[in-house]
Amino acid sequence: MPRSRNCLVTALGAMLSRIVRLFRRAPAAPPPLPPSYPSSFLWGAAFSAHQTEGREGGGEHGDWYAFEHETRNGKPTILGGDTADRATDFWNRYDEDYLEAKAIGLATLRTSIAWEKVNPAPGVYSDEVLQHYRRMIGAMRDRGIRPMIALHHFTHPRWFHARGGWARREAPEIFLAYATRVVAALDDLCDLWITFNEPMILVEMGYLKGIVPPLVRSLPDAFDTAYHLAEAHRLVAAMIHARQGISPDARGADGSLRGVGLAHAVADYEPFDPDDPKDRAATSILAELSSWAFLRGLVGDRMAFDIPDEIPGAARFERAFPPRDRARGPVLDWLGINYYMRWRVKYDARSAIRVDLRVPKGPRGDNGWGIAPEGLERVLRAAALRHPSLPLAVTENGLADEEDSRRPAFLRDHLASLDRVMRGSEAGPPLDVRGYYHWSLTDNFEWLEGYSKRFGLVAIRYEEDLRRVPRPSARVYTGEILRRSPRR
Ligand code: FCB
Repeated sequence: MPRSRNCLVTALGAMLSRIVRLFRRAPAAPPPLPPSYPSSFLWGAAFSAHQTEGREGGGEHGDWYAFEHETRNGKPTILGGDTADRATDFWNRYDEDYLEAKAIGLATLRTSIAWEKVNPAPGVYSDEVLQHYRRMIGAMRDRGIRPMIALHHFTHPRWFHARGGWARREAPEIFLAYATRVVAALDDLCDLWITFNEPMILVEMGYLKGIVPPLVRSLPDAFDTAYHLAEAHRLVAAMIHARQGISPDARGADGSLRGVGLAHAVADYEPFDPDDPKDRAATSILAELSSWAFLRGLVGDRMAFDIPDEIPGAARFERAFPPRDRARGPVLDWLGINYYMRWRVKYDARSAIRVDLRVPKGPRGDNGWGIAPEGLERVLRAAALRHPSLPLAVTENGLADEEDSRRPAFLRDHLASLDRVMRGSEAGPPLDVRGYYHWSLTDNFEWLEGYSKRFGLVAIRYEEDLRRVPRPSARVYTGEILRRSPRR
């Protein structure tokens, strides 16, 4: 080989190896620094009474208790024949869980009150149970954790259904009587209330599809239920505001979250084919019926649902609220969004509701729900667009992942999506979001799926006397909270 060519080859070789070294040595780009969240921002975790407490205290008076102990066509109603009789024994072991929450660095926990335990028979209220809840919530505060309490999280006393349940005209007053007892017993310990968890999921699953208690399948009953849930919310909000006294601070004017909210399920719906007008129409009809119509009615003066002509059973429901329940204060002080997943919506002429729901490609939870972190920003922005004056909170977000192999990334990615909402992004300005509650603190009873689906930051070893064992993602959550805490 001639010398000059040799030189060229050597020089080229040296250059190449320098480039390779450069790339090898190049440190990985540091992850972008998240914005620092206000010090009043509530970092928490959520769970509910029935999913954790166990039967003690009167669980046998509940609709789910009855349902769990039944069989249908010889098969158990709950996967694997599970029941919530023991659940995680939170009723007795609550303080252990508060310590787990403290170890993660949580400032708040969201739980609920079991209506069936407090109010086991018509007009009967158990002081013993209310006292127990006082101890439970008092101990949470003693640990320096701020409670957020839902008055209703899917379960009811059995007698309530025997008297017609939510489809009945008197249902809102019945719920108000129960709620008044609970708030009177606990409002020196709690200033952060949720009336209903996912009211439209109860409407859909309990009154339209009839697959969870009270197992009703009726469109008129579903409409009436939505209306009565909203009316009950309005009555309870007025009651809480009357007790708290209405001042700007009752809404947390200082930037903290306070007062009465709702935990509303909002999924991220996108058209299967964005260029297909039918897919686009199906998507907006679905989002409207499942997410927005209820909220618009709740804060307005009437509840209205419109099922378009094309869908068999097309119907319009519209009913105004009685003027008396608008008396005191705002209907909502803040809005909680439960966000889990995205659906791709395809128009399908063969389906009863003309819609075929598909899970997007990509990773999923153990229960098949698709993981879509960007959807968190989208649903929060969609809520803020419709309700610009309401502070927001993420009241549930989590993943079924027993192995904890996807939860760390799930947490990081969803919080990165929340960062874009807090900081502002090309999708819109910063929004007033005041809390994030991960579902769930511990594994628990996942309704129809029993104990088979594990949502906990802390695992429950059901076979080892319910031993609590933090999963690696609990530490990940700690780190993510610290990264967003105000920098000194
Ligand atoms: C929500 C429910 C909650 C829990 C999670 C996984 O829809 O509010 O109780 O089951 O899903």
